[in-house]
Amino acid sequence: MSKKFLIANWKMKLNAEESIQLAKDLKTEISKAKFGADKEIAVAPDFLSWQAVAKILKSSKVNMACQNAWYEDKGSFTGEISLAMLKDLGCQYAILGHSERRAFSGETDELVNKKVATALKHDMTPVVCVGETFEQRKEGRKDVVIMRQVQEALREIDIKPEQTLIVAYEPVWAIGSGQAMNPAEAEHTAMIIKQSLIDVLEHQDLPLVKIVYGGSVDSKNVASFTNIDVIDGALIGGASLDAKEFINLIKKA
Ligand code: 13P
Repeated sequence: MSKKFLIANWKMKLNAEESIQLAKDLKTEISKAKFGADKEIAVAPDFLSWQAVAKILKSSKVNMACQNAWYEDKGSFTGEISLAMLKDLGCQYAILGHSERRAFSGETDELVNKKVATALKHDMTPVVCVGETFEQRKEGRKDVVIMRQVQEALREIDIKPEQTLIVAYEPVWAIGSGQAMNPAEAEHTAMIIKQSLIDVLEHQDLPLVKIVYGGSVDSKNVASFTNIDVIDGALIGGASLDAKEFINLIKKA
């Protein structure tokens, strides 16, 4: 069975005290659960609590991720935090182009592409988010939207043989709605993503690219996605905010 990636996106849902408590709870629960090498786990806290959480989870099975970062390494970019700075602190995964950033922070495909290139330059694993809105799906444009997002985000990207890149398919309408996508439709869309990856990455080795599903994933439905051949894990919001539920979810994946 292939390795499953379970990546928690804590978004802007917790204050520093709550994040630290969640990290402590997670550390306790994870040590009890004894997960093997077939589960790759990461958490993306907010930047205020990031280092404190990293310190707590150091030498645990949990890797660190960021929810976003800037592509230049250093310079006059007020208010930004660079991928290079995060890499120095031990950040392994970079969630990039999340639909909430595209919707509320003006993140474009072009910007996502630059961030993906920089993440790989620093040997971080980009978690590139793509997904259609409710309207786009209703108008029958879902597949075209997804193909374009994948192709733009990965334009002229080279992945070295020792690197991994993750595409997170998150239908915007399924995020935080409690209404996950039907697994058969997620499988169909993951196949579309795979085909787009073949087109855009041309000669490169596709096993280096993983596809995960996100959007109202919880411990009850996670297996219906991770049992699908072409889906290698999940990007989890709400259900990752409770240590016991998240551990349960990892067990079921
Ligand atoms: P929910 O799991 O809360 O739907 O959030 C999904 C998500 O946006 C993860 O990035």
